[in-house]
Amino acid sequence: MTFSEAEKAAITSLWSKISGHADDIGAEALERMIINFPHTKTYFSHVDLSHGSADLRRHGGSVMKAIGNAAQHLGDIDHALSGLSDLPAQDLMVDPGNSKLLSQSIQVTLAAHFPKEFNPTTNAAWDKFLDDVFTVYISKYR
Ligand code: HEM
Repeated sequence: MTFSEAEKAAITSLWSKISGHADDIGAEALERMIINFPHTKTYFSHVDLSHGSADLRRHGGSVMKAIGNAAQHLGDIDHALSGLSDLPAQDLMVDPGNSKLLSQSIQVTLAAHFPKEFNPTTNAAWDKFLDDVFTVYISKYR
C-alpha cells in the first residue's frame, strides 16, 4: 500500500509522541481489546492479563515497537517487520477476522492520550496504516 505525503506526516509525527510511552500505550490497547472483545483472550492464555501486569506492559510494548518500526519504514513495511517471522508460527495463528480489533483498540487509546493530534485526518491515516501492518503481520504466519 502507498501513503500520500500527508498520510506519512500524520503517521510519523504521532509516532514521535507515542515512542516514549510505547509500553503504557501498548498495554492499554491490549487491555481495551481483551475487555471489549473477550474472545481475543483465548490467544493469550499464557499471559497475565490483569490490569497493569508486567506481561501486559512487556507485550504491549513489543507490539507498539513493531508498529513504530513500520511507521519509520512506510515504504517497506514488509521488510521492517521481517524480524517478526521468528515468532513461533504454529503458536500464533491469529484469525484475520481479528484485524480491526487491535487496530480499533489502539486508535481509541491514541485518541484518549493525544486528543489534539488525533484529528480526523490523522485518525484516517492511522486506520489505513494499522490495516497495512496487520496484513503484513498475518502474512508472516500463513
Ligand atoms: C497490528 C497488529 C499486531 C502487531 C504489530 C503484533 C505484534 C506482535 C509482536 C511484536 C509479538 C511478539 C511479542 C513478544 O514476544 O513479546 C506478538 C505476539 C503475539 N501476538 Fe501479536 N500483533 C498484532 C496483532 C495481534 C492480534 C490482533 C492478536 C490476537 C487477537 C495477536 C496475538 C498475539 C499473540 C497470542 C502473541 C504471542 C504472545 C506470546 O507468546 O507471548 N496479535 N505480536
